[in-house]
Amino acid sequence: MDAITVIRAKRDRGELTPEQIDWVIDAYTRGEVADYQMAALNMAILLNGMNRQEIARWTAAMIASGERMSWDSLSRPTADKHSTGGVGDKITLPLAPLVAACGAAVPQLSGRGLGHTGGTLDKLESIPGWRALLSNEEMLDVLDSTGAVICAAGDGLAPADKKLYALRDVTGTVESIPLIASSIMSKKIAEGTGSLVLDVKVGSGAFMKTLEDARELASTMVELGTDSGVRTVALLTDMSTPLGLTAGNALEVRESVEVLAGGGPKDVVELTLALAREMLDAAGLKDADPAKALADGSAMDVWRRMIAAQGGDPDAELPTSREQHVITAPSSGVLSRLDAYDVGVAAWRLGAGRARKEDPVQAAAGVEIHAKPGDAVQAGAPLLTLHTDTPERFAYAIESLASAYEIAPEGTAVDPNPIVMDR
Ligand code: URA
Repeated sequence: MDAITVIRAKRDRGELTPEQIDWVIDAYTRGEVADYQMAALNMAILLNGMNRQEIARWTAAMIASGERMSWDSLSRPTADKHSTGGVGDKITLPLAPLVAACGAAVPQLSGRGLGHTGGTLDKLESIPGWRALLSNEEMLDVLDSTGAVICAAGDGLAPADKKLYALRDVTGTVESIPLIASSIMSKKIAEGTGSLVLDVKVGSGAFMKTLEDARELASTMVELGTDSGVRTVALLTDMSTPLGLTAGNALEVRESVEVLAGGGPKDVVELTLALAREMLDAAGLKDADPAKALADGSAMDVWRRMIAAQGGDPDAELPTSREQHVITAPSSGVLSRLDAYDVGVAAWRLGAGRARKEDPVQAAAGVEIHAKPGDAVQAGAPLLTLHTDTPERFAYAIESLASAYEIAPEGTAVDPNPIVMDR
């Protein structure tokens, strides 16, 4: 077998054979197929697609590149959630302890932000002392003792995806449904969860910009999960505007703690509860009541124990930015649009995200949102507050917000998208 034959087959719109797929993934993981060859193959896949059989085999080959975890020793059913990524998407933070408080075990292997989308691990690392890197034994210990663990996937889990994702990120080959579906599902199946709820984001701040593409991605992933024995469901949820009132690491932790304390923005609470109900259903815990677990403080108790078990201090002050810049409403009326992508880029440029994998992030950087689509605004009132430790970034961030929002005349009816658009 050789890489050039495999690349040519897909370049010429052919179907890759199971043997070709197994070989190319294994040879790439071992370094026998070069990055430039895999980049060419990825681009051919992005342009010409893969059918469901090819996607299933590609996913299986990525799973086989590493270890498979097992949680059989736990007495509780396992449930996990994966979001395809968005702006202000802090849902994992309140959701994992909430679902654990309702009786499931939540092994939440999470990632870091790249580009305009935030990453759960970057957010949690703004809590003093908190550690993302755990050994498999530590992971099991935290899960067993608290009911939930949020941590980085170890190097042994789907190593083919680690290499491939880093390569796709710098070769313009992220936005391919077969490659996204296999990337996400190889990690989730290898992680060994019994059930999985996928939060497939739709809109400007998501990888999938249209409902049609999001449906295709969701059904591909649900089929991959189901065929591997993981009870899998997907919600399609709105990412045309940021979730909640914050985008940025410590800012989002603060908002998540508000949700766990029984408050927080309406959209964050609504999506957290919708996903919690799906996770509990998929885990066979249909009678659990997540709204009660938020209201009576039991989800907050799990959060505090989970953070402490990973070295964090749940009572510590979160970092605040050295500099702030307020953007005010240019006129009075109704906010008719606040673009998720533009706000995500602004948060990233302020220092909340990284341009290269090895860059550090600023814990306190980000964007605070004072009005959401449908809200009345007054001329001169704050619309957005930008936070950073490095004020030279303000101009660059403000540039990305030039056409991020629109204000319609007073009395205009604005009908924001529902949070959950389809199931
Ligand atoms: N998240 C992943 O893990 N992989 C992708 O390809 C896209 C989003």
